Amino acid sequence: MIRKYTFGVPLPTNAVIQDLPAEEGPLPFFGVTAGKDGSVSFTLSLHPEEALFGLGQAVRGMDKRGHRYESWNSDVFNHTEERPSLYGSHNFLVFFSPERLLGIYLDDPGKVVWDLGWEDYSRAVITSVSGNLDLYLIEENTLPAAARAFRQLTGRSYLPPRWAFGYIQSRWGYASEQEVRTVAQEHRKRHIPLDAVCLDIDYMVDFKNFTWKPDAFPDLARFSREMKEDGLRLVPIIDAGIKVEEGYGPYDSGKAGDCFCKKADGSDFVAAVWPGRCCFPDFLREDVRRWFGDLYRPLLEAGIEGFWNDMNEPALFYSDEGVAEAFALADRIRSGGVDYEAAWGLKDAFSGIANNPEDYRRFYHQVDGKPVRHDLVHNLYGAGMTRATAEGFRRFRPGERLLLFSRSSFIGAHRDGGIWQGDNFSWWSHLKLALQMLPGLNLCGFLFTGCDLGGFGCNVTGDLLQRFLQLGVFTPLMRNHSALHTREQEIYRFTNWESMRDTVSVRYALLPYLYSEFMKAALTDGMYFRPLAFDYPADRRAVRTQDQLMLGGDCMIAPVYEQNAAGRYVYLPEDMLMIRFRSAADYDLEPLAKGDHWISLSLGEFPLFVRKNHAVLLCSGGESSAALDDTRFTAVGQIETEGEYALYRDDGKTADPDPVGGLTKIQLVPDKAFARSIQC
Ligand code: GLC
Repeated sequence: MIRKYTFGVPLPTNAVIQDLPAEEGPLPFFGVTAGKDGSVSFTLSLHPEEALFGLGQAVRGMDKRGHRYESWNSDVFNHTEERPSLYGSHNFLVFFSPERLLGIYLDDPGKVVWDLGWEDYSRAVITSVSGNLDLYLIEENTLPAAARAFRQLTGRSYLPPRWAFGYIQSRWGYASEQEVRTVAQEHRKRHIPLDAVCLDIDYMVDFKNFTWKPDAFPDLARFSREMKEDGLRLVPIIDAGIKVEEGYGPYDSGKAGDCFCKKADGSDFVAAVWPGRCCFPDFLREDVRRWFGDLYRPLLEAGIEGFWNDMNEPALFYSDEGVAEAFALADRIRSGGVDYEAAWGLKDAFSGIANNPEDYRRFYHQVDGKPVRHDLVHNLYGAGMTRATAEGFRRFRPGERLLLFSRSSFIGAHRDGGIWQGDNFSWWSHLKLALQMLPGLNLCGFLFTGCDLGGFGCNVTGDLLQRFLQLGVFTPLMRNHSALHTREQEIYRFTNWESMRDTVSVRYALLPYLYSEFMKAALTDGMYFRPLAFDYPADRRAVRTQDQLMLGGDCMIAPVYEQNAAGRYVYLPEDMLMIRFRSAADYDLEPLAKGDHWISLSLGEFPLFVRKNHAVLLCSGGESSAALDDTRFTAVGQIETEGEYALYRDDGKTADPDPVGGLTKIQLVPDKAFARSIQC
C-alpha cells in the first residue's frame, strides 16, 4: 500500500509516475515538527533490531543506521566515511525490524538531512530543509514487495543495450584515435575481452561539448565504424556546462534560445568548469531539454551509441563572484594582520571556491514559467540532463536502446539512464564501499551501475585492480576508469595481466546469464543486487551481513576486498554450491552447508555461491559480447529436485522488449555432477 502526504507547496520533480491523491489525515508513524526556518522534520523511534536499507548513493554500510547523511548532489573527490553526500540524491529508505516494514520516500528536490540514529541510535530524524515535499509511505509484507511498490510508483528501470554489459576500458587522457586504437589492439592482442572504450574530455576541442578534435579524430564516423567492425564501441563524455564563446555553435544556439540559468538580474549565470567560463542549461525547461538533446545528433550520426554525462551536480570550479569574495577576504586579512584563525579562514575561502553553496544560490531556473532559485531544486540538475539526453535518443533512435550513464542523479533518472559511482580512489576501502553501495542503488531503481574499477584517483596496484575486477565481473556496468596523471590502469600494464584477463573471461562466460538476470529484474521491477535481508528476513545473521550480496534469483557474491587476504569468511544463509573461479574454463565446485565458512581464495580466484536447486549458465568464450554463443551453455548448480531456469534473451537493443516472449524455460534435472551441458 502506498499513501501520499503533502507538506507545503512541492515543486515538480518528475520522480513519481503514479498520480495518487494526498491523504487528508495526519502522517502516521512519524512525529512531525515544523522548524522556524520553514523546514519540516519527521521523527521515528527505532526498534533495537531495526535495519535501514536504501538512500542509494551514500557512504558506509548497506544498513544506513548509525550515521547522518544529506541529500545534496555533490562533486566530491574524496569518498571518506564523513562525506554526508555524493553525486546523487535518492530519498527512499526502508525501515525493517521484527515489528515493522515501512518505506518512506521524500519527493523533495532540495536538501534533505537524514539523521539515522546519529544523534540518538534509537531515533531517526529526517528533515526537509525547504519543508515543501510530497512524502510517500510504503507498507508491504516483504522487502522485495516494498522495492517493487516503490518502482511501480517511480517507473521501470532503464534498460541498456546488451553490449553495455561487456568490459569497458576508460581513462581520462585518451586524446586521439591512434591512442584509442592502441588500447583496443593491446586488449585484442592479448585476448582480453573488450566491448567499448570511453572517450574522456580530451577528445573535445578545448573541452567544449559536442566538438571533437579535427586532427586527432579526423573522421569520427569512419573511426567508429572501424571499431565496430572489431566488436568495439566508442563512448564519449558530455559535460553539463556550455563554454561561453561566441561563434561556438552550442553557446550561440543556447543563447539564441535563452536556454541558460539566470542570475537575479536576468543575466546568464557563469561559472568555470573544464573549458573555462560556462553557462548552464536550464534542464528543468522542456524546450531547453529539446535543444540540448538535439546537440547529441551529430555524434549519433557519426555512429556513437553510448554516452556518459558528467559534471552535472552541477560541478562549479569557481564563479567570478566567489573568486572576488575570496580576494576581498585576502585583502582584509592583508591589511588587518594574520593570526591562525585568519590564515585558516583564508585557506577555507580559497579551497571552498569550488562547489560553493553561495554559488548555488546565485542562479535561477524557470519552473512553470516562474523563477525558482537553484538551491531549492538543486538535486534535479543531473536528472534533467539525463532526461534531455534520453529524450533526444528517443527522437533520433526511436525503438532503440542506447547506453547512457550519468554521474549525478535523482529518482526518476533511473528510468532514463544508469549511473556510475563517481570519483573513487584506488583504495581497498573503496572496493568495499562500491560493494556496499550497490544494493541501495538497486533499491532506488538504479540497476545499471558500477564503480570505476581499479579506482579513479591515486595509483592502483595489480592486486587491487584484480580484486576490483572480481567485483566488476558481477556489476552491470563493468568499467575500468582512472584519472589523468595516475598510474596507467589498463589490464595489460600489470604483471598479473593474464590472471586479470582470466577474471574478465568469467564475465563473458556469464554475460548471457547476468544479462538475463538483469533484464528479468528490470522488467519485473525487481532488484538485481539485494542485501541478504531481502531473501532471508528471519535470519538475523543474514540481515546484519554487510559485505555479501544476493544477485538475481540464484546466487550470492562475496568478493575479497582486503589487501593480501588469502581468502575471506562467508556466511551462507542456506546450503549453497560454491564456484571458485580462476577463469571461464577453470573453476572448481564445492557444496557447502548453511553457516560460516573460511573460503581460501588466491589472488586469481573469486567465488560465486549458487543456491541449491538453482543453476547459473556459462557460455563458451568470446572477446566481445556479440561473439558469445547464447544457445549452448554449461549449467552449474546442485540440483536435487527437478527445477527450471527461465533464460531471458532478446536482440539486445529493442527499446520495449517483450518481458515474457524473451523467456526460454530450461529444465534442470537432478545432477550430482553439478555441471551439465545444455542447448536452447
Ligand atoms: C570527473 C569525472 C571523471 C572524469 C573527469 C574528467 O572527475 O567524474 O570520471 O574522468 O571528470 O572528465
